[in-house]
Parts: sequence; structure tokens; C-alpha cells
Amino acid sequence: MSKGKKEQLAFLETHDDFLEFNLKTKMRFGAGISTDLGKYLKEFNLQRVGIIVDSAISKLPVVNEIFENLNKEGIKTIKWEYDLGFEPDYTSLDIARKQFVNDKNEPLVDGFVGIGGGSVMDFSKGLSTLTVNPGPAINYRGFPKDLKKPLPTIVMPTTAGTGSEATYMAVFINKEDKLKRGINTMYNFPLMAILDPKLTVSCPKPVTVSTGIDGLVHALESYVAVQSNYLTKIFARDAFKLLFNNLNKVLDNPKDVNVRGNLMLGSYLAGISLMNSGSGIGGVLSAPTSAHFGVPHGIAGGILLPYAIEFNVKNGYDYSELYDLIDGVDKSIDKKEKNKLFSKRIFELCRKLDIPTNFKDYGINKDNIDVLLKETEKREKGLAQNPIPFSVEDGKKLLLKIMEE
Ligand SMILES: [Fe+2]
Repeated sequence: MSKGKKEQLAFLETHDDFLEFNLKTKMRFGAGISTDLGKYLKEFNLQRVGIIVDSAISKLPVVNEIFENLNKEGIKTIKWEYDLGFEPDYTSLDIARKQFVNDKNEPLVDGFVGIGGGSVMDFSKGLSTLTVNPGPAINYRGFPKDLKKPLPTIVMPTTAGTGSEATYMAVFINKEDKLKRGINTMYNFPLMAILDPKLTVSCPKPVTVSTGIDGLVHALESYVAVQSNYLTKIFARDAFKLLFNNLNKVLDNPKDVNVRGNLMLGSYLAGISLMNSGSGIGGVLSAPTSAHFGVPHGIAGGILLPYAIEFNVKNGYDYSELYDLIDGVDKSIDKKEKNKLFSKRIFELCRKLDIPTNFKDYGINKDNIDVLLKETEKREKGLAQNPIPFSVEDGKKLLLKIMEE
């Protein structure tokens, strides 16, 4: 049924009369499965692959084992160590691309593997497109049309949070105008996501925190998003449960594969929910703090998240079913109390994770409010995803409140 001709479906208790949902990437999850990469590549008939690996982890034994396995399986590789930080840009894609094509612009590989965090996975998606679609990467910014089908990409996250392993989005920044437009195409869906929690146990605290809280922002913003539906909420709810309860444990138990696995799975679920619904206040307000002042994406979202929830709770949004998913809570209390405590628990988690309470450390103060709001105005559509009306003026009040902290 088309969206224009919807009628109420009485058997659905979901209040949705139309459902839209995309999930395309094959997924395998398990501790230690990263050394099966060669087996999977063979199944897909990929013999020569470009491997983009985060330079911060490229010497780890667990990564060495992956390469040893590929050798054993007879897979040819061109390795490119990624050291561009958390905001890859279009020009870097053009430079890296040269490693993977010959003089006639023909691909030297038949697929890509990204081993790293969200930026590395996004970079692999970008290279898959550019290897068969020549010209500067900036030409493909946004949502490019008429693309030749990119090479397949397999992703292996080494952090838990960004959700890039499940989505068609690939974020890139233009260094000139500082705008993040990405290269987003339905072709970007990875062919397979291999989720091995063992790849995340050595993830240092700052990265664990900034990526983990990013995942929690995805879960909570997509849960409340106006465009959420019955299916996205199933993913968002479980994402919240896994992320909230295990973010509470991970700093005390960084080597615990179960905790890491739960975070990894939670982030994956949150990515699926986000892609199929939308982001909200945190997503919109955090973007200019990252683009103009270098606040890491996850941390920016983590600074804003408790205030966005506080705003929604004060204005009557009901998070009580999420409150019930927090380990050890008393489910018998009334909804009003649950919402008050829910907001409090989000603040407490952010403090426990040492997420800053304001933007001071990044040099952002009241003098910068106009820069932040100018960008926010361009993203009013994103603010409209919040279930409680939230204007640019509300954004200003919220940012000023944080700055007073
Ligand atoms: Fe995010």
C-alpha cells in the first residue's frame, strides 16, 4: 500500500498504519570470529581486497591474526593504514584512492574491508564508490545519483557506538566550508558486518566513552523520533537496554568480552533504528560543535543528551518503558516518578563516564552562540524529529543552560 492511500489496520496495536524499514547488511556476531574473514571473503568470491585499518590498532595481536588468516587463505591484500582522526575529509579519499587503481583508473582490488571505528568504516565505503566512479570525491557529496555500483565492502568495527556497520551513511567533511555532507548512497550498505567483541577489548577509555555514548544517543533519539515506528522502536528499546546497562559497567570491566559484546550489539541495533527513523535535538545541536570547534561527535552528543531528555520529560514525554529496562529499578513506582528518575539516571551515567558537563574544554562559550545557531537554523527539519516541539530558540536556551554549567 502506498503511503498516500493508508487506512487504519485494526490488528496492529502499534498506532502505525504504514511501516517502512530497511536492513540489508549480512551480520555475523561472535567472540573470535574476526579470524574467519578469509572464509567469508571466499564465500563472496573476493580474492584481492583493499584493507583499511586504523593505525592505532594495526599492530595489535588480534589484528595480526586477521592478516595471518588472510595469508593462509590465499587472499591478496593492499593495506592502507588510516590515521586521519575522527573526521575523514573528501581530499583524503582522493589521495587514498590512488593506492587502489592502476594508471588506467582500473580497480586493483575487487572489494574493501574496513577494520576500525566509524571513520574507518565510512572511509572504506567511500573508497568502494570512488574506485569505480572516478573524479574528485567532493563531486559525490550528499546523496549522489547515477553512480556505478561500488565494490563490495565488509566492515569489522573495533569500537562500539557509531552504527556505521549497519547503515548506508558515510560521513565526510569538506575542510573548506566545514560542512559534513558525506557520500550517502543505498549502495553503501556493507555486504557484511563482522562483529567480534574481542576487537573492542583494548579500546581505550576516551574512545570507549565517546563511541558508546554516541550509540546511546542514537538509541534514545531514534526511539523518540517522530518518524519512529513499531519496528524501529523494537530495535531502539533493546539498544537502550544493552547500551545503558553495559556503559554503566564497561569502565570497571574494560576487558570483559560479555560487556563489550553487549555494547557492540547494542550499538548495531541503535544504528539500525537511527537509519530507519531519525536523529533529534542532540544530533542537530552537536553537529556545529564538532564541525567548528572539534568536539568529538560522541562527546558532543553526550554533553547534550541529558539536557534534551530533561526538556522532553519536563514537557510530558513518557520514557517510563525505557526506565523499566534499567537493571535493578523498581518498576512499581508511578510513571511521573519513573520519568523524573530516568532523566536523573541519564545525567548520572554521563557523569560516571566523565563526559564533560559543558563545552568549556573545547573553547566554546556564549560568544559562539551565533555560529552554533546559524548552523542549527539550517537543520530545523532535524529538530522537528523531536516529539515535543523544539524551536531554534529552545536550542539557544538549552545551549546557554549548558554554558552556565
Ligand atoms: Fe552519532
